[in-house]
This record gives sequence, C-alpha cells and structure tokens, in this order.
Amino acid sequence: MAIMIRTPREIEKMRRSGAVVRQVLEHVQAAVKPGATTLDLERAAERKIAELGAAPAFKGYRGYPCVLCTSINEEVVHGIPSAERVLRSGDLVSIDCGVVMDGYYGDSAVTVAVGDTVAPGAQRLMDVTRASLERAIAVVRAGATLGDIGAAVQEVVEADGFSVVRDFVGHGIGTRMHEEPQVPNYGQRGAGAKLRIGMVLAIEPMVNAGKPEVQVLHDGWTAVTQDGSLSAHFEHTVAVTDEGVAILTQ
Ligand code: MF3
Ligand code: CO
Repeated sequence: MAIMIRTPREIEKMRRSGAVVRQVLEHVQAAVKPGATTLDLERAAERKIAELGAAPAFKGYRGYPCVLCTSINEEVVHGIPSAERVLRSGDLVSIDCGVVMDGYYGDSAVTVAVGDTVAPGAQRLMDVTRASLERAIAVVRAGATLGDIGAAVQEVVEADGFSVVRDFVGHGIGTRMHEEPQVPNYGQRGAGAKLRIGMVLAIEPMVNAGKPEVQVLHDGWTAVTQDGSLSAHFEHTVAVTDEGVAILTQ
C-alpha cells in the first residue's frame, strides 16, 4: 500500500481527533502527582475520551488492554497502566494516547515529571526529546523527505549525547492508527520517500539517556531500555499542507 493522501476535509476530521487527544493528555497531566497510580491516569483518560465523544484507539489494538500507554523512567513505550504502579516524585512518565472519531485517528504523547523536583539530567532528557520533535516538525513540508525528519531528530538528540531508539518508529496515520510509511527517528538528509501535500504522519521520537537498545518485558508490551537508563517520548500527528506543516494534535 502506498502512502495515503488526505483531502482537506479529511485533515479537518483528523484535526478534530487530534484536538480530542490533546484535551485528554492535558486532563491526564493534571492528574499526574506523587501517589497517583497509572490506573488513575487510565481512568481519567477513559472518562475524558467518552465525554468528548471519541473512542480509544489503543484499547483492543493487537490485544492491548488500555486506552493509554504510561511508561515510567526506564520504560520507553507501551507501559500498561496498573493499580500497582504508583507515581513517585521525580519519576518521568510518558503518556501516550490515540483516539478515533468519525473514522479518523489522532495520536500524541508527552513526557512529564512527577512532582516538583526532577533531576537535572532527567529534565534535560525531556527537553531534548521535545526539541527533537519540534525540529523534526519544522522540516516537514512538501518535497522534504522521511530522511530529513529522522536526521533532524537524530542531530538534536546525539548533540546532547543521548540516543535514538531504533526498534520503534513513527508512522503514517489516517483511517487506521498505523499506516504507511514508517517514520524512523534516524536517517540521512535527502533519503527516503518524498513528502507530499496531504500526507499525515505521527512523528514520535523515543530517546534514551544511555544506549539505544530496548527490550520488551514478559507482559509482551512494556519496552524498557536494556541498560536501565531513563527514556523519554513525545509524539504529534502532523499533516503536510500547502503552507508547510500543520500540527493536528495541538
Ligand atoms: N503511539 C503508539 C504507536 O503509535 C502507541 C500504540 S500502543 C498500542 O504505536 F497499544 F496501541 F499498540
Ligand atoms: Co504513534
């Protein structure tokens, strides 16, 4: 299957799904505090998604059990919310949410610190990961390539001595959560498929403070850094437009 081209009408629908995802993430972030469990975050998200008239995208996807992925510290992505998992001051928690509304998907993630005190290195990791996503979004326009996106992420991340996860990538998104193309967070400028007006991508750098290798735990989902180092993750759904780029999840 080729990379889908979405009409302005379709992109408008994706903007609405994206706005729901944003509101859910804001709502969940307000519930992040020491002593809260990741199941508390899941419940807050479930209620908000329903209130906004959308449906969760992750729950049931390949058997995934929840509407959020909540990944703490050395967990990279796909952490499963649980009543046993209590947030502590200084933890980093990545909150990833996808919804579908009117047939169109939105997908976004943020990483936030729990409580008021966070180690400088952890703060730096979050800042650099967010900056790498911003830099990648800034190169998106018709005529740019997937390699330009990956190179932008990689440059920002590696300049700080952090590493880009290779085992998971961003993706096209539209009437399915995962569509072509794969959107790696590494690559060479000018390489890969050319972006065209109407393409919609979920760009999602996953950045480790230490080495890039990850492994999946026995729950079949939770990906953790192999060296136990911290990891951060940010994601936006963006569309290539005649004006350059539109962030649909903000
Ligand atoms: N944002 C992630 C992704 O695009 C989350 C998917 S979790 C899953 O792959 F459970 F739905 F797989
Ligand atoms: Co995604």
